[in-house]
Amino acid sequence: MQHGRVTLANRIASGVLRALFLTTIAGCSRAGGAAPGSAVSQAASSSSESSPGARCDAQAGLASLDAAKASLAQTYAKRFKVGVAINGRVYGDGDPAAAALVAAQFNRVTAENELKWQSLERQPGVLDFSQADAFLAYAEQHGMEVHGHTLVWHHQVPAWVFQNDSGGPATRQQLLARLEQHMSALAEHFGSRVRYWDVVNEAFNDDGSLRDTPWRAIIGDDYLDQAFLLAGKHFPDAKLVYNDYSMEKPAKRDAAVRLVQGFKERGVRIDAIGTQAHFQLTTPTLEAIDASLAAFAGAGVEVLVSELDVDVLPAAYENQGADLSVNAELSAQLNPYPECLPNDVAEQAAQRWADIFEVFSRHSEHVHSVTLWGVSDGYSWLNNWPVRGRTNYAQLYDRQLRPKRSWQRVIEVAGQTL
Ligand code: G3I
Repeated sequence: MQHGRVTLANRIASGVLRALFLTTIAGCSRAGGAAPGSAVSQAASSSSESSPGARCDAQAGLASLDAAKASLAQTYAKRFKVGVAINGRVYGDGDPAAAALVAAQFNRVTAENELKWQSLERQPGVLDFSQADAFLAYAEQHGMEVHGHTLVWHHQVPAWVFQNDSGGPATRQQLLARLEQHMSALAEHFGSRVRYWDVVNEAFNDDGSLRDTPWRAIIGDDYLDQAFLLAGKHFPDAKLVYNDYSMEKPAKRDAAVRLVQGFKERGVRIDAIGTQAHFQLTTPTLEAIDASLAAFAGAGVEVLVSELDVDVLPAAYENQGADLSVNAELSAQLNPYPECLPNDVAEQAAQRWADIFEVFSRHSEHVHSVTLWGVSDGYSWLNNWPVRGRTNYAQLYDRQLRPKRSWQRVIEVAGQTL
């Protein structure tokens, strides 16, 4: 695992906290976790020097600001919370450097996988809260707001949820009863410690039509109403969120707005829209991002930017969103920066991050939070989707948890837009 190598190298190279808080501008922005100056590092430098077009030199991608003096959460405190998705490899005995980084830089956390149905209730009625409890303990120890992800989704739900006792499809009543039992068990265990819940995740296709999922097939088109009604009953103190990706596409954006309007007409509580924000270097446009934030605010709900990353690799297919059923074969063409990110791409990414935060800031009256999907380049899901085994550079910290130029520009743009 990439992040595993990084962590080990961090600890060996310079101690976890030093690696975290001191910006090391003397190292190159390499993908691997080798210490600067090591044999591996020197080999990579000399190979990059032989192809000037893909240079990854000493300044490549790293910040020159001291990360100990500026935190994302503090810098944006007057506008919105800044969160991050974490998993069990970070807290507990996982990765102390990453856990310290999260506590220092963020004020809210989302469980990347640990609150999904499959993690909590793999067998009918057998609830396992061990991973969730470790997540909550870490969040609460550091006073971070907790985001629950997710109650109703078509991924990471065990097959039994949709089946009757003989293995055939469950009835509407059975599935609704299971959903209610699941929510009730979670509510009993978590109480009001989870402040926001993604009640339904990814219900729409990009053209705004309802996605075909087992939830829809079994319960019917009103399954979103039912899910939000049940969530309102069992989580009265939590904010209820509809969450989706590619929400900058007008048809999908408008479907989400219509969902909110319909809920309001029918008396179904919804408090927020989560717009995932799995972005690329040039798509979606800033105008499209701006328009979707304005549309959601106009619908009268809070807006959560819920899963932000910037994919810097070539798109494996057109209109890349976040559909997990799509994937492609690994190839050199699709994985052009296995050793390091060239300076020009690092600069492009930094500008993109700054531009995006500038747009978010403009809507800060309605944006509750901006959450990054993964602590660092090494923790990002984009190393394995839509192509397994690529080396992506999708986050604000590199594989050694050093703040990147993108991080610095996000800090700087806050000062320019106050
Ligand atoms: O838990 C099993 C483990 O038992 C097994 O040994 C291992 C072997 O591969 O797999 C583990 O499950 C993995 C799971 O993450 C937990 O680590 C799955 O294979 C893997 O597919 C899964 O990926 C997650 C993905 O959702 C699928 O649910 C990613 O970490 C997570 O970042 C991603 O997050 C989604 C959001 O929930 C919704 N929006 C899009 C976003 C990115 O896809």
